[in-house]
Amino acid sequence: MKAQIVSLLKKRYPEYVSGEEISQVLGVSRTAVWKHIQKLREDGYRIESHSRIGYRLLQIPDRLFAHELAGLLTGKLIGSNIVYHETVGSTNDLAKKLARKGAENGTVVIAEEQTGGKGRMGRTWYSPEGEGLWFSIILRPPISPIEAPKITLVAAVAVTRAIRELTDIEAGIKWPNDILVSGRKLAGILTEMSAEIDRVNYLVVGIGVNVNLDCTKLNDGLAETATSIKQLSSGSVSRIRLLSGILDHFDVLYEEFIKGHFSQILSKWKEMSVTINRWVKITSLEGADEGIAFDIDAEGALLLMKKDGSMKRVLSGDVTLR
Ligand code: BTN
Repeated sequence: MKAQIVSLLKKRYPEYVSGEEISQVLGVSRTAVWKHIQKLREDGYRIESHSRIGYRLLQIPDRLFAHELAGLLTGKLIGSNIVYHETVGSTNDLAKKLARKGAENGTVVIAEEQTGGKGRMGRTWYSPEGEGLWFSIILRPPISPIEAPKITLVAAVAVTRAIRELTDIEAGIKWPNDILVSGRKLAGILTEMSAEIDRVNYLVVGIGVNVNLDCTKLNDGLAETATSIKQLSSGSVSRIRLLSGILDHFDVLYEEFIKGHFSQILSKWKEMSVTINRWVKITSLEGADEGIAFDIDAEGALLLMKKDGSMKRVLSGDVTLR
């Protein structure tokens, strides 16, 4: 009901829409219309009202409401179902719960704030209210579990493209999934999976983008290692536009991936990479290794040439650029 009212007010802006007309279009009483307008105001919409002429929309809040996002998305699959919450522990955890209950392929779970945001390697992900994009995508790809890491690379290309398109920031990708600017982290991706030996039940691709954070005031070393769009960009960026951009790019790239065109996505990934041809340290469960990251293979694994000339293929780990 709220979404319908907003849509009607938007369509008629800058004119007023009478309470009478809204009540007729929606098939509810004028008192019900007034109550919904009040709820919209509580949500942060600025709506002007005049006793005889009706209502007029003045401002949309900086919120990631499902009905606002749905109106911006152009993709076929990603965001066909949107779950929105003000606060959750972690959108990845909620997405996994929904996926277990049968949530459809392409479902997007969004929160304004995460109280237990998770990063890779058991780290926490700082996710204060309204200051970033904290969301997860549920996917049910017809692939074997071994191919799942490729999806993280697909997501990294989507995020980087959207950031480059909507801002003047030259974001780059650090293998496998960090979006960096001048060595500082702007966005991260955490992909989690439920699988059997030969097939994926579902994947949850969790994406965090620092949009309005002032990272210079953060503790735990984040001031030195993290950054945000607000800190880097000359103009302000609408969170919902950036979110719809990421989801739309992901929609196109994911379709390419499902059609078997990963090699094309990988070339785009390589063009945006800040890892290739750099001296890196890789920390994984197997220990640490150093060398030149000289390429990414067709499976998305990092190829490392160590000081003694020996080669290593790394499927997962944490990279430090030297
Ligand atoms: C990393 O770089 O360590 C990955 C960070 C991933 C953060 C996002 S925010 C939305 C989603 N929910 C989580 O709990 N984590 C991911």
